[in-house]
Amino acid sequence: MKVVIIGGSGHVGTYLVPRLVMGGHKVVNVSRGKAAPYQQHAAWAEVQTVTLDRASEEAAGVFGQHVRDLQPDVVIDMICFTLDSARQLVEALRGQVQHVLLCGTIWVHGPSVEVPTIETQPRRPFGEYGIQKAAIEAYLLGEARRTGFPATVLHPGHIVGPGWAPINPAGHVTPHVFTQLAHGEEVALPNLGLETLHHVHADDVAQAFLQALTHWSNAVGESFHVVSPAALTLRGYAEAMAAWFGQPARLRFVPWPQWRETVTEEEARLTWDHIAHSPNCSIAKAQRLLEYTPRYHSLEAVEEAVRWLIAHGVVKGL
Ligand SMILES: NC(=O)c1ccc[n+]([C@@H]2O[C@H](COP(=O)([O-])OP(=O)(O)OC[C@H]3O[C@@H](n4cnc5c(N)ncnc54)[C@H](OP(=O)(O)O)[C@@H]3O)[C@@H](O)[C@H]2O)c1
Repeated sequence: MKVVIIGGSGHVGTYLVPRLVMGGHKVVNVSRGKAAPYQQHAAWAEVQTVTLDRASEEAAGVFGQHVRDLQPDVVIDMICFTLDSARQLVEALRGQVQHVLLCGTIWVHGPSVEVPTIETQPRRPFGEYGIQKAAIEAYLLGEARRTGFPATVLHPGHIVGPGWAPINPAGHVTPHVFTQLAHGEEVALPNLGLETLHHVHADDVAQAFLQALTHWSNAVGESFHVVSPAALTLRGYAEAMAAWFGQPARLRFVPWPQWRETVTEEEARLTWDHIAHSPNCSIAKAQRLLEYTPRYHSLEAVEEAVRWLIAHGVVKGL
């Protein structure tokens, strides 16, 4: 099939585009031409690149039409962040495509109730990002059910891979936390360290998109969590990483109001966003309906990313 991927040269596209090409699809990547995939792959030689700025094209009201003009069988939208964006695309593609797969986020959930959270839990998002993604999901699944629009929404957790810093055991992205753990230095964690993170390797997100594409009849009109098999507590994550470095974990637990004073404003903002959500999502639906089989547990995904950070001198290993 001809697959147009919007935003295909980022974390997920790095893995998804080669998987699509190797699966025999004709792939068109729509992006501004600024980002390059994190890893080289011969498959990119077969990818057509169309340079468009979605923001300015949407402002002019022509983005959806330009995507439709590419005559896709399938559209994968990696970078839809507002309901208006989703509407523009749907209106342009209605009746023209076999499948539209959109990247959401587990932030559609807000705080958990029963864990692991399943897809049918009522949405209680907070923060503009999660609220918009939940509105997009509701709109697309509503369109699928009311009008037969062939939409699927995939909700990744914290995307991890070699080439960028993963969310660390303190809940932010400053790689120095890994260096501290590597050297047996003390690391302060907020509260009791029992709040959670739910990572996923970028290649497993790519796998889920491909599985949704090939399991069309199970995927249309549905949303799916795309995360590793299990979430991590901050404490367990810190202990496991210290052990991976061959060190004892020297952890200090500090109540949030004091802990936030020990880090930068941006680190505090990120950690708060992560621990306030404390995601813990089930993949049972994706396993059952899409035969999603993640290759990486959370720690394996993080270890691969940290190995890359060490090799590039960002994390100082021993
Ligand atoms: N990061 C996470 O941990 C995480 C977690 C859950 C969900 N998500 C979801 O994952 C999706 C992002 O996927 P990703 O992490 O693979 O993306 P990414 O690494 O941020 O890459 C973004 C892609 O979009 C292109 N792009 C950005 N702005 C554009 C514009 N105005 N017009 C056209 N192309 C544009 C970029 O290329 P150019 O720069 O060359 O344009 C690149 O190809 C989002 O929907 C996000 O909500 C992410």
